[in-house]
Amino acid sequence: NTAGTEAAKRAAGEAAAAEATDGDVVGLGTGSTAAHAIRDLGERVAEGLDIEGVATSYQSRALAREVGIPLLTLSDVARVDLAIDGADQVALDANALVKGGGAAHAREKVVASAADEFLVVADDSKLADRLEHPVPVEVLPDALARVERAVSDAGGDPTLRDAERKDGPVITDNGNLVLDCDFGAVSEPASLARTLSAAAGVVEHGLFVGMADAVFVGDDDGDVRRTE
Ligand code: A5P
Repeated sequence: NTAGTEAAKRAAGEAAAAEATDGDVVGLGTGSTAAHAIRDLGERVAEGLDIEGVATSYQSRALAREVGIPLLTLSDVARVDLAIDGADQVALDANALVKGGGAAHAREKVVASAADEFLVVADDSKLADRLEHPVPVEVLPDALARVERAVSDAGGDPTLRDAERKDGPVITDNGNLVLDCDFGAVSEPASLARTLSAAAGVVEHGLFVGMADAVFVGDDDGDVRRTE
């Protein structure tokens, strides 16, 4: 969670949720902003909206169940109509995002890539001219040392993400580790994305380049700007 206010997050989440229509399969993102979208979709389902959801994480699945959205299993789904998800940082001009603050970016990327329309929801504190948020990289545990070296060779500074309420590292929903990799300000996100993807042992990284079809940016007044 970031400095952004709940009002801004709610406004963005609800504006994107309004895009869902009867018959849609909807990708359900992870994090506090996407959670507003999921709750809003749940209310609309209770009022008769006919959709099915595909969760991107344990948390989003639990929330979707709680609010009554019927769910499909990601492993059975090759395409979704729209996916709604948050981001840790957004560079609008480059159409580039950093995701993975919730360690869910591998499934998030599968769902986003399956979506006819990938809608990003963010409060305005997430906007940046250039991405400088550390890039989460999900790593096969046995490849940790090798991937740390690859990240260093690419100019990054990797830090193993530790769990908050457990001794030891974060383990993802897929049983892997997460390296938060500080590259400073990223001038060429597409190139860095290719480099990270090419490193053996990298399961997925949190750079989403050229994937967003629209970004819904909420502000503290509850206003939303939709950028294409
Ligand atoms: C989850 O892995 C991330 O990609 C989230 O989408 C991101 O952390 C956004 O979370 P908030 O909406 O809570 O800031």
